[in-house]
Amino acid sequence: MIFVTGGAGFVGANFVLNWLKNSDEPVVNLDKLTYAGNLENLSSIQDDPRHIFIQTDIRDGALISQLLAQHRPRAIINFAAESHVDRSIHGPEDFIQTNVVGTFRLLESVRSYWNGLELADKSEFRFLHVSTDEVYGMLSSTAPAFTEDHNYEPNSPYSASKAASDHLVRAWHHTYGLPVLTTNCSNNYGPLHFPEKLIPLMIVNALEGKPLPIYGDGMQVRDWLYVRDHCSAIRRVLDAGKVGETYNVGGWNEKANIDIVKTVCGLLDEMRPRADGKSYVEQISFVTDRPGHDRRYAIDARKLERELGWTPAETFETGIRKTVQWYLDNPQWVANVQSGSYRDWVQKQYADQP
Ligand code: NAD
Ligand code: DAU
Repeated sequence: MIFVTGGAGFVGANFVLNWLKNSDEPVVNLDKLTYAGNLENLSSIQDDPRHIFIQTDIRDGALISQLLAQHRPRAIINFAAESHVDRSIHGPEDFIQTNVVGTFRLLESVRSYWNGLELADKSEFRFLHVSTDEVYGMLSSTAPAFTEDHNYEPNSPYSASKAASDHLVRAWHHTYGLPVLTTNCSNNYGPLHFPEKLIPLMIVNALEGKPLPIYGDGMQVRDWLYVRDHCSAIRRVLDAGKVGETYNVGGWNEKANIDIVKTVCGLLDEMRPRADGKSYVEQISFVTDRPGHDRRYAIDARKLERELGWTPAETFETGIRKTVQWYLDNPQWVANVQSGSYRDWVQKQYADQP
């Protein structure tokens, strides 16, 4: 039995689905179901007895302690977080509450549970914390990619809150001996990605005939990894990672935002041509830049490749094609996530744009 937090979100849901495809070991999925948590992501396993979903906040230490005592997991994978940089700029409070206070409370419940385990179970137990490359800050255009030894220099409220959570995890290992692992991954894309993030937003807006808003000059660089490759990396680290270590996860796919958007447009031109025969590129609109926008991220994933033998299965070309196809095949999922508070967010974020 494992526990997953945040398993109704983008990466967490992909992980849970992938886990149950590859293993019979049950999963207890703890998720608050914020705007980003979506039970529809898990509809294919809703009757699967190996999946136990519990709606809860990771800050609810009493409930988490009770669930740990009841289900006695051998590992916890912490995906739960507020994850969108733009939202962290508008309202950082939730990021501090979930990413910092939530991780702290979770660590405390887990520490108490772990202390009560038999010796053999105690040494086998793992707390795997899922984090981001954004904790390392920003790279110049010529700097080498982030290694695990890079200084922490977070620049946004989101990345600062994730950095704080990474430090807590590290300290709980150093001080209390809790057997932790941390992964720092680059930008994910793929099925179930909430359309507030660049790639799904561009696909959805393109199909709806709306502008494709590119912040600033569009030359910011992100390093893209297909979400299922992130999931396979987490499994590998859980199985074989060295306690107390951190592992960078990435696919060596640095791309400028404008190139990503043009690639998405090109695929849509081929797979769902516009009625007027023009390219979706016509819908590109350069808009006001994100405050404090980090210019470049890039992950050096050699430690994970060398020490644990992990490699990604998808290239960017295969992964992005699958992703566009998934959005074309799932219009109802898109319509459902766009109902309710999603519209308010889009209006607020892009209100003053042309
Ligand atoms: P997401 O926003 O899609 O999902 C987050 C999930 O956490 C949602 O289901 C939400 O309901 C849940 N959640 C939020 N607050 C909670 C709380 N207080 N208690 C319990 N559940 C709560 O995020 P994501 O993109 O799936 O990211 C998952 C994790 O992976 C995050 O920790 C993020 O920092 C990390 N990560 C993401 C990426 C990426 O590109 N998406 C890259 C690197 C690391
Ligand atoms: O690097 C890992 C991180 O990647 C994760 O930790 C975060 O949880 C995840 O959200 C993601 O953060 P980014 O800020 O890089 O992702 P986002 O999709 O929001 O933006 C990607 C790039 O595209 C970024 O440079 C901003 C730009 N962008 C984004 C949006 C939403 C635009 O130009 N226009 C947009 O409308």
